Amino acid sequence: MSALDAVLRRQSHSKVTADAPNRLQLLPLVEAAASVADHSGLKPWRLIELRGDARLRLGSAFVEASGTVGRDAEKLAAKPLRASLLIAVVFAHQPSFKVPAWEQEAVASGVAHMLSLLLDEAGWGVFWRSGHLTRSEPVHRMHELAPNEQLLGWLYIGGLPERTKSEQRKRFDAARHLTTLT
Ligand SMILES: Cc1cc2nc3c(=O)[nH]c(=O)nc-3n(C[C@H](O)[C@H](O)[C@H](O)COP(=O)(O)O)c2cc1C
Repeated sequence: MSALDAVLRRQSHSKVTADAPNRLQLLPLVEAAASVADHSGLKPWRLIELRGDARLRLGSAFVEASGTVGRDAEKLAAKPLRASLLIAVVFAHQPSFKVPAWEQEAVASGVAHMLSLLLDEAGWGVFWRSGHLTRSEPVHRMHELAPNEQLLGWLYIGGLPERTKSEQRKRFDAARHLTTLT
């Protein structure tokens, strides 16, 4: 499949099965995703696999950060259980005179987009999620992030349900988003 076809075919899947790639399946995809353009090659990112009970701890961190109780808290706590594998995308700011933080965050974001595409192409369902609690202190603590690190959300990853609708993308008016200065 050409890169163009893979990109045009990619779509997010909010509902996935409990199946998930194992670490050995992930590693070559992460290696490939690391090839994104990266000013000075700072590699200002890392990824964290959240499986099993780590997802429960993330749910508890959401509840702590939100201050919700009762049924709302239960619903929030269950959110990370929508897939058996979540990959937390971490922007890890590196000291540099040359490369400002915004450039480094663009690299981390690029890695996550590339990894989503590679997972999609490999036949997995992926959905990138975030939300207003993403950069809260309890969520930061739960991921054991260093002071120079911030989350960009989570890739929720799983198998494709048997009757997956493949949505026809609306035509995108590229000409409106590509202007020219001469
Ligand atoms: C950084 C980031 C965070 C996102 N967070 C959410 C989210 O919390 N909830 C949501 O419904 N969509 C979220 N999205 C959008 C979905 O991942 C997805 O791209 C969108 O539903 C469109 O589907 P498509 O990728 O098939 O075009 C996020 C996307 C990005 C890049």
